[in-house]
Amino acid sequence: MTTFKRTLLTMLMAGAAPGALMAQIVEPTMPPEPPAFAAQGAPVFVPREAIQGFRKLDSYNEPDFVKAFVEAGKLPPVEERLPAEPLVMETANMPDGAGVYGDVMRHVIGGRPEGWNYAAGNSQGWGGIDIGTMECLTRVGPLFQVEPEDLAPLPNLAKGWDWSEDGRSLTVHLVEGAKWSDGDPFDAADVMFYWDHIVQDPEVTPLNGANPGTFGEGTTLTRVDDFTVRFDFTTERPEQILYAMGYGTFCPGPEHMLRPAHPEFSDNSYEEFRNAFPPDFLNFPVMGAWVPVEYRPDDIVVMRRNPYYWKVDSDGNQLPYLDEMHYRLSTWADRDIQAVAGTGDFSNLEQPANFVESLRRAAEEDAPAALEFGPRIIGYGLYPNLSGNGWGEPDERAQTIRELNRNEHFRKGIAQALDRQRLGESLVKGPFTTPYAGGLLPDTTYFDRESTVFYPYSLESAKAHFAEAGLEDTDGNGILNLPKDMGGGDVVMTLMANTDYGTDRTVAEGVVAMLQDAGINVSLNLLAGNDFDATRDAGRYDWRIQRTGTELVTGVQNTANLAPTGPNTSQLHMANAEGEMDLLPFEEELAQIVRDFMSSNDAEEKTELMKRYQTVATENLYGVGLTAYPGALVVNKRFANVPQGTPIFMFNWAEDNVMRERLFVPEDQQQSHELHPETLPGAPGEDGPVTAG
Ligand code: GLA
Repeated sequence: MTTFKRTLLTMLMAGAAPGALMAQIVEPTMPPEPPAFAAQGAPVFVPREAIQGFRKLDSYNEPDFVKAFVEAGKLPPVEERLPAEPLVMETANMPDGAGVYGDVMRHVIGGRPEGWNYAAGNSQGWGGIDIGTMECLTRVGPLFQVEPEDLAPLPNLAKGWDWSEDGRSLTVHLVEGAKWSDGDPFDAADVMFYWDHIVQDPEVTPLNGANPGTFGEGTTLTRVDDFTVRFDFTTERPEQILYAMGYGTFCPGPEHMLRPAHPEFSDNSYEEFRNAFPPDFLNFPVMGAWVPVEYRPDDIVVMRRNPYYWKVDSDGNQLPYLDEMHYRLSTWADRDIQAVAGTGDFSNLEQPANFVESLRRAAEEDAPAALEFGPRIIGYGLYPNLSGNGWGEPDERAQTIRELNRNEHFRKGIAQALDRQRLGESLVKGPFTTPYAGGLLPDTTYFDRESTVFYPYSLESAKAHFAEAGLEDTDGNGILNLPKDMGGGDVVMTLMANTDYGTDRTVAEGVVAMLQDAGINVSLNLLAGNDFDATRDAGRYDWRIQRTGTELVTGVQNTANLAPTGPNTSQLHMANAEGEMDLLPFEEELAQIVRDFMSSNDAEEKTELMKRYQTVATENLYGVGLTAYPGALVVNKRFANVPQGTPIFMFNWAEDNVMRERLFVPEDQQQSHELHPETLPGAPGEDGPVTAG
């Protein structure tokens, strides 16, 4: 019997008429208009070709200290290290023009690296570490400044692509002659290894969760030659694939390192494969601009410039301009404080608790850092585990909660028990936060307020919904009781939250208090970031609080994750050990909308599909939205080439959006923070950086 039927039965037997309860229910409306909050800087919009291209230049240049390595015979000449046609970052698009070499960007991060095996799911600690080491087939971060008419991913490791006439296949041309940071050639073998043995292997999930569904059902990839691969599709011209080729779903790792450690080609277990390159495995080969050369637990990760980096400026200067990168292993709150104080260089100001003080300091004339607020693209949601099929092996209590989660009245009760206005204000007062209905975030391209269903705060209504779900406080202890056939005990649920962020904790504590008032006993399960991610992905939670991802900002990225389109695309609902799903009718509908969206190329149709998505997702509370607010980019003033109006998050995080390989510090402002001056990465797995001498 479904919970709903059971509920009805319970009510009828108790003599309660459903109509009487209905009377107390407050009907949904549209979300309130967000308070006006003007973003401070607008990007200078340009076509994609103004940002970058691929071409051979007459000559190339590199820092003097790197020339010393060439002279000592320790490194081939720069023109041999670069591709025949390197990627040229156009100097004309750089706000301050061609840069000079030197200096360090001092990041502070709150995450901790698990290792360098991104392909097997290792977190590198976030905060721009993996964005700086991983390069992907296409690039999406800088798209915030691309003219809407030309909006499509930028070529990157894929220097170009051609659609077949029938739109059923896409031939992808890889950059030719690019090398990993240890000098090993980058080619189709790296791309095919990622596809065949990472994406297609059900035992392996890369960081950021790429799986076959990410690329559209039935999509295949074939090697054509060393520098060409071909996608074949079951639908026509799914241009969406170009986004799936970007961060973080198609960023191949070094096949020459990964293959020998992969269980198919070694005695390693999958766990051993995942942990084959721990954080203290130095000089791990990357395609990114900087290579990890030093790791001190809970202290710092240091990276040095990649002498094989395959990007140059229009004058032929090999990028990056910055020789070193630091990632202090601290807290996210400390990132804000240090960036504003000038002891760190960069922060995505996203902890509302730090907004007011940061704004105050940044307004002072001698402020070391510039601070610019962007659109409202940070959101928090409360997400139910919707699988009743045993995903994550719930015990009896947890299984009961999942059955409740699958009851729409229970979800509506939760939504109406929450005063989202007050929750936002508990983070920061002022025009920042706005109640968030769920689904796409307000302030984003596909968001449509009229298609959004918002369940307003009403404790009465929440209780009426809970009663419809069969929950009443039968023993008068202030906590709702389960129906008799579910044991009759108090409703006790757990709420998982990430302790790496102060905001997550504050939001979670607010939710617990509000649900308690509505008669639900919630116990907090506070976990550090890496454990939180692992527990979520294993399905071992009742409800969780989480910051929204990119799919709810742009719609065109990680699109498959917007609904349970496949057995493991949705973090709310995955298949059980037997691979079975038990989707609710509205989840089926959402999945179909998302599939249609992914295979459509008609702009109008896509807009309509996203409106429909928004309605179905918010009406059925596929996640209860909580609050949304803007973030600010904080960068130390000594850095040049920071693009105007860079959002902290959009197609990617600001660490990609600012194009760090083009940032530089003018000579007269350079500081001496380098920990390993005049060095380059050593051999993979060996001790740290090496000198020319
Ligand atoms: C974390 C931080 C973000 C951003 C990303 C980059 O999620 O909270 O601000 O730095 O890492 O991956």
